[in-house]
Amino acid sequence: MAAIKIFSPATIANISCGFDVLGLALDAVGDTMTITKVADKGIRITKITGQDLPLDALKNVAGVAGLALLDASEYEGGFEIEINKNIKAGSGIGSSAASAAGAVWAINELLDRPFTPLQLVEFAMQGEKLASGVAHADNVAPALFGGFTLVRSYEPLDVVSIHTPKALFATIIHPQIEVKTSDSRKILKTNITLKDGIKQWGNVGGLIAGLYTEDYDLIGRSLVDHIVEPIRSMLIPGFDQVKSNAMQSGALGCGISGSGPSIFALSRGRKTAEQVGQAMKEVYKGIGIDYEVHVSSVNIEGIKRIP
Ligand code: HSE
Repeated sequence: MAAIKIFSPATIANISCGFDVLGLALDAVGDTMTITKVADKGIRITKITGQDLPLDALKNVAGVAGLALLDASEYEGGFEIEINKNIKAGSGIGSSAASAAGAVWAINELLDRPFTPLQLVEFAMQGEKLASGVAHADNVAPALFGGFTLVRSYEPLDVVSIHTPKALFATIIHPQIEVKTSDSRKILKTNITLKDGIKQWGNVGGLIAGLYTEDYDLIGRSLVDHIVEPIRSMLIPGFDQVKSNAMQSGALGCGISGSGPSIFALSRGRKTAEQVGQAMKEVYKGIGIDYEVHVSSVNIEGIKRIP
C-alpha cells in the first residue's frame, strides 16, 4: 500500500467533569486526509484545504506528530500529507487532534502497524503540544480509539476505552468566534480546593459508571464541572442561556466542548439532540452571532480508511 485516504473525527474533550482526561469521538464531523508513502525522508505537507494553516511540517500539528513517529521508526523514507479541514481551528472540537491523530494513524497503516494505539496517542500528543503548549491526550485518544476514552494517567500514559451507550447523541453549537486553547488554559487556576476536588471526582466516577450501566439519569447528574466551566464560560457569549435552553429541551447535560467556544450537550436519542440544537440556536440568533450546529452519534470506530 502506497497511499491511504482517511476520515479523522472531531472530538469533545473534557465532557464537563473530566478536564484533560475524558473525551469522545463524533461521527458527523471530521477531516479527510490523504497520506502517501514516498522515498524522500521526512514529512511534507503538500496541500491544505478548508483552513489557512502552515505547510511547514515543523509548524503543522500533523507534521510534528508524523515526525515524532518517524523518529521512533526504522523506516528510512517519508510521507506526503494532504489535509482537507472540515473542523475549524479554534472551535473546541479537536481540530488539531484530528490532524495529528490522522497523520500518525495513516502512517502506521502504511508501515504495516509497527506501533500500538497507545504509542500513536503519544506521537499525536506532540501535535497537541505544538498547538496549545500542552501535550494533552483527551482529544487524540478518542480520535484514535473511538468512543469514549479516559486518560487514566499521563505518566505513564494509560488510556482506557469506555463503553458507549447506543442511544447517546451529541449536539454541538459553535458560535463563530475563535478561542485558542493556549489562551483558555492560561486563565485557569493551577490549584483547586479539596471541596471542589471531591465534587469533581464524584462526577467522573459517576459518569463512567453511568456509561457502563447505560444509566442515562446518572450520566446526566454527572455532567457537571465545578472547576473549569465557571472560569472558561466567561469567554463564551451566551453560554448560560445556551446551557439553560439545552437543559429545558431535554439534554442530559451541557457544557463547554474542550476549551471552547463550542458548547456540547448529550441527549438520549437523536430527536432530543436535534431539539436541543434548535433551542441552542435561538440564543445566538437573539444576540446576532453566527453559529454552526452539529448533531452526531458517538463514533465508536475512531479514525478510519475511506475510499
Ligand atoms: N483538555 C483540553 C483543554 C482540551 O480543555 O484545554 C482542549 O481541546
